[in-house]
Amino acid sequence: MDLSINERLVLRELGDAEATTNEIAARTGLKPEAVTQAAAMLADKGLALVREEVEIGYALSDEGKKYADQGLPERVIHDALPQEGTSLDDLKKKFPQGTVNIATGWLRQKGWAKFEKRDGQTILIPQAAPRSADEATLEAIVLHRPAKSLDPKAIKDLTKRNLVRMTEAKETHIKISDAGQRVKAAGIEITEEVAQLTPEMIASGSWQGKAFRRFDVAAPVLQEYGGKKHILRMGIDTVKRTLIEMGFKEMEGPMIDAEFYVNDLLFMPQDHPARTHWDQFSIKTPKYIQRLPEDLVARVSRVHRDGGDTGSLGWNYEWDEMIAKKLVLRGHTTSLTARYLAKHNKPPNKYFSVEKVFRNDTIDQTHLLEFCQIEGWVMDHHLSLRDLMGTFKEFYKHFGITTVKFKPTYNPYTEPSMEIYGRHPRTGRWIEVGNSGMFRDEMLAPFGVECDVMAWGLSLERLMMILYGYEDIRDLHGPLCNIDFLRSVPAIWQQ
Ligand code: PHE
Repeated sequence: MDLSINERLVLRELGDAEATTNEIAARTGLKPEAVTQAAAMLADKGLALVREEVEIGYALSDEGKKYADQGLPERVIHDALPQEGTSLDDLKKKFPQGTVNIATGWLRQKGWAKFEKRDGQTILIPQAAPRSADEATLEAIVLHRPAKSLDPKAIKDLTKRNLVRMTEAKETHIKISDAGQRVKAAGIEITEEVAQLTPEMIASGSWQGKAFRRFDVAAPVLQEYGGKKHILRMGIDTVKRTLIEMGFKEMEGPMIDAEFYVNDLLFMPQDHPARTHWDQFSIKTPKYIQRLPEDLVARVSRVHRDGGDTGSLGWNYEWDEMIAKKLVLRGHTTSLTARYLAKHNKPPNKYFSVEKVFRNDTIDQTHLLEFCQIEGWVMDHHLSLRDLMGTFKEFYKHFGITTVKFKPTYNPYTEPSMEIYGRHPRTGRWIEVGNSGMFRDEMLAPFGVECDVMAWGLSLERLMMILYGYEDIRDLHGPLCNIDFLRSVPAIWQQ
């Protein structure tokens, strides 16, 4: 039978009585992992019998360690009691309150002290205090005595006091089989084996006459989880590539921004519910942006007040610059769109970003306090909702998603507006993947844009949900993330 050197080394040490992995490791000089592997291979060939057992042990808690070292509180107090006794009040002056409280209960229970009332005081008088089973057990645990030899009642008491806790460790027991005995009886030769053929061995010819180690390429091995990109990072990269392929340029800008860019430039009225702390996170310090562009401020405040030259009536209120200056964590990347429209107001133009946004949502299956938004806009003459729908069909087609649905909706800054829905592959439910529309004149006029702009904000996490079939966004990131899922996502190679 063809045995590797490790299998031979292990087989040679096996007997009728079981031995643990660590014992065989010590006897052969192999690492415990190598013994486990060799034993599994021997078992496969019918030469060894392998059995796993959970070994129960006991360990001390931090408090348990302290008492093992300094004595249980009742022992410490008992030893400090003078022969004639001392009052509880005096003890409380000399020892920490916690120690006295724990100790008195046990002194009473163990009969180590008598409690007497004298002039309204409780007096503790020391009694004989032979070493107790729990003290002996604490010491036995420190000395690593076998779990079986420990006093069960003492273990129970110490566990209840949170001084000791049970531990479980897996131990592999290996013994030889009848077939193994026969192989062993025939004699096991330990010859040196070459595990790796090197260029030097080939060049010098020294490989000749050497015994080579055989590898079982089908043998089960420990799963390795190499480093790789997180699924969301892969998604971000793929989306960026897709949009660049579609001819878009990328926008960049701050995560913390003035409400001016997040809200006011989008013709969002200053008393809009989305602008309260229920929805957006504000910044404590600094509270305000230092400066806003004056000309744009003048035009925006007019549009909000009476619509300016757009023919709109505006919101009919006095616009407040201090509200616009407030800093917030951006709730959408349409703040970037606003910043870019201020600089690029001539057609044709198209931009995108894939960036983090923050909302004060209630966390559930489909909501976190932050997510990645795929923002984009196209500026040209004669754009219509059809162009917008076509752009989404084209975009999602890149990801193999060929069915999307649209539904009319409302945004203060777009008209018409529509939501985009995709179908979850596992639940079959339609989930909202984004929101979009044609920017209103009230939004475009202050920038001096004189043509059409269609725009959108899509959720990267929801797109990933459809692509990978997970049902809970919390699987992906945050404290509840599903490590097994993240590990099992295949890495995609991209140039
Ligand atoms: N800002 C919108 C959101 O966060 C998305 C959007 C962007 C809608 C641009 C229309 C135009 O949901």
